[in-house]
Amino acid sequence: MTEHIQYSPEKDALVLLDQRFLPNREDWFDCKTTDDICFALVVMVVRGAPAIGVTAAYGCYLAGREVQSMEGDWKKNLHDKLDQIENARPTAVNLRWAVREMRRVWNETGDVSLDELCTIWLERAKQIHAGDIEMCESIGRFGGEVIDDGDTVMTHCNAGALATAGYGTALGVIRGAIDQGKKVKVIANETRPFLQGARLTAYELHKDGIEVKVACDNACALLMKEGLVDKVVVGADRITANGDAVNKIGTYGVALLAKHFGVPFYVAAPVYTIDPETPSGDDVPIEDRDPKEVTHVGDHQITPDDVEVYNLAFDPTPNELIAGIITEKGVLRPPYKEAIAKLFE
Ligand code: MRU
Repeated sequence: MTEHIQYSPEKDALVLLDQRFLPNREDWFDCKTTDDICFALVVMVVRGAPAIGVTAAYGCYLAGREVQSMEGDWKKNLHDKLDQIENARPTAVNLRWAVREMRRVWNETGDVSLDELCTIWLERAKQIHAGDIEMCESIGRFGGEVIDDGDTVMTHCNAGALATAGYGTALGVIRGAIDQGKKVKVIANETRPFLQGARLTAYELHKDGIEVKVACDNACALLMKEGLVDKVVVGADRITANGDAVNKIGTYGVALLAKHFGVPFYVAAPVYTIDPETPSGDDVPIEDRDPKEVTHVGDHQITPDDVEVYNLAFDPTPNELIAGIITEKGVLRPPYKEAIAKLFE
């Protein structure tokens, strides 16, 4: 897969593969300002919890550069810009984590000039970027072990290279199993309304020569009943202190069906996706997105004028439906409250 998040020193910009247009067009989107970064996050030029975190880290650096040409108190201006980035999307904890990490670095460096801070932040953003790929590869090594040779794995949304800095979490598990010499097939749920499964998971797996079939979201029960699914592996935007996993809308339904049909359901995510400050999935803010994503397919309206729709973007899957949480440090097993507390000791 092409690196879809790139810092360009020539442009002094973050250059993103625009995921709105995949798989039909490989367009690139340049971010030079805080507004560009926030726009890219909100409309989902870039999406997926770890990719959002990496983008936000570079976004803090770009905010610093922007503030250099502004009038007034640079520290206040910079805090305002960081707030703007932190609030671009509410559910993925990685966004908050990345901005808080940049604030922590700022606090630690003490009394530096804005120019020095920008240099330090750019280096930290690059480390977060590279570190994310390493974490995903480690998730792949641990996760590969839970996959058997010949398995067909269902996944929901896109938790792949495009949702991270590279390699992926859920798709990292599949790549890890393949690297271990196993034959694995993938069912990608299409994932209405943004179609991350149909457009993005299918795009990146197909590009890498990994066998993938796209299924309508509502085919899940039948496919499981027919014995066509051996495991489910999904990513997460936030895992709470009790092990509930908040992920793309529809994940909860897949997990309930997996329980019903006896299919093991795994969540793959880096440790920093675990939010020990939030007790349960019910406490996580669920993003309510633009209704147009539901009322339209592209520019074509599919619902009658003035009919209201739901466009809640995520749902929490209760921990009792999860067979294991695959992290870069190993696979957590129930009871998750204890396993997570131990991880953060
Ligand atoms: O709205 P999105 O596309 O950002 O939602 C993405 C997901 O739900 C992913 O499954 C999650 O972020 C994990 S990405 C490794």
